[in-house]
Amino acid sequence: MLSQNTLQGKTAFITGGGTGLGRSMAKKYLELGANVIIASRKLDVIQKAASELATETGGNVLGLACDVRKYEDVENVMKAGIEKFGQIDILVNNAAGNFISPTERLSHRAFDTVVDIVLKGSYNCTLALGKYWIENKIKGIVLSITTTYAWTGSAFVVPSACGKAGVLAMTRSLSSEWGKYGIRLNCIAPGPFYTEGAFDRLFPKEVQEMLNPIDRIPLGRLGQHEELANLAAYLVSDFSGYITGEVVTIDGGEWLNGAGEFNFFNKVPSEMWDMLEQVVRGAWKKKE
Ligand code: HXC
Ligand code: NAP
Repeated sequence: MLSQNTLQGKTAFITGGGTGLGRSMAKKYLELGANVIIASRKLDVIQKAASELATETGGNVLGLACDVRKYEDVENVMKAGIEKFGQIDILVNNAAGNFISPTERLSHRAFDTVVDIVLKGSYNCTLALGKYWIENKIKGIVLSITTTYAWTGSAFVVPSACGKAGVLAMTRSLSSEWGKYGIRLNCIAPGPFYTEGAFDRLFPKEVQEMLNPIDRIPLGRLGQHEELANLAAYLVSDFSGYITGEVVTIDGGEWLNGAGEFNFFNKVPSEMWDMLEQVVRGAWKKKE
């Protein structure tokens, strides 16, 4: 979608960039000329991904161990990234933890675990990079991967909903506070995209036999990684230079489909509409 040198000379730090959507965004950024730092807890996974991405794209990738819940880990990644690439321009808050569960079954530690990865991890990285950007007069960009239930809430993923809502509030708040430094912050809110990490924990096969997530999506399919990666590249590029504090939904129409009062009339077969029209017109005439 974007020309090959769109991110030339930029360095992006993508949390959790060794798997799933983070890895797809890393690949896209590398193809567009950026240097990329990917960092997550599993060093073996992140180093393997870094070396594969470098081979696939010919780009510069640094893979480091980091638990985003620990501020010192985030600072260490930043230091190593700046040492290697000279500067960091872009942060993608992508790392997350989540699993499906009735809330009353959760221990307080389980609740903490998810909120800490999603919210604390995102504010740790945003704060560390923000301080660095302001001190060094760099017009940094933050892109956070949230989800559509950040504003609707959702049953059975309550810690994740709390964490993602916090990330959305942080994005909107800082877009106002840090606009004067030229720092932009935006979110992408995806609906379902196949990744092992998400589907094993949220839509296991046993559940899919009962509840198919595709049934809820007007466009009738899951998202494709390329679609999200292109959007993620646009939102960190100069082409989106006047967009900040915004959330772009990429969900095939899913959340609005769940919200619209009469959207469930999609289930009415088209051959039934002649009869329904007669009934409805008849109701009007009765009143006359
Ligand atoms: C109830 C659970 C549980 C489960 C873990 N716990 N899994 N409780 N049901 N299924 C509890 C544990 O018993 C423990 O509490 C506490 O949570 C911490 O668990 P640990 O395994 O020690 O934590 P940790 O090793 O840090 O792993 C974090 C994790 C794990 C979140 C539990 O799943 C993970 O590493 N996830 C990272 C990747 C991920 O989640 N990807 C999906 C993102 S998808 P106790 O009390 O026993 O100590 C996404 C999409 C949203 O966000 C939108 C989709 C449309
Ligand atoms: P994923 O492959 O499981 O990615 C999550 C990543 O986060 C993993 O690479 C994991 O690596 C990393 N991570 C977890 N805890 C961490 C920690 N404490 N510190 C550093 N890294 C950590 O799942 P995904 O589907 O690609 O999700 C990516 C993002 O998209 C998430 O923000 C998710 O909420 C969002 N999202 C996904 C979907 C979807 O349908 N897939 C929908 C909406 C939103 P380690 O295990 O090595 O730490």
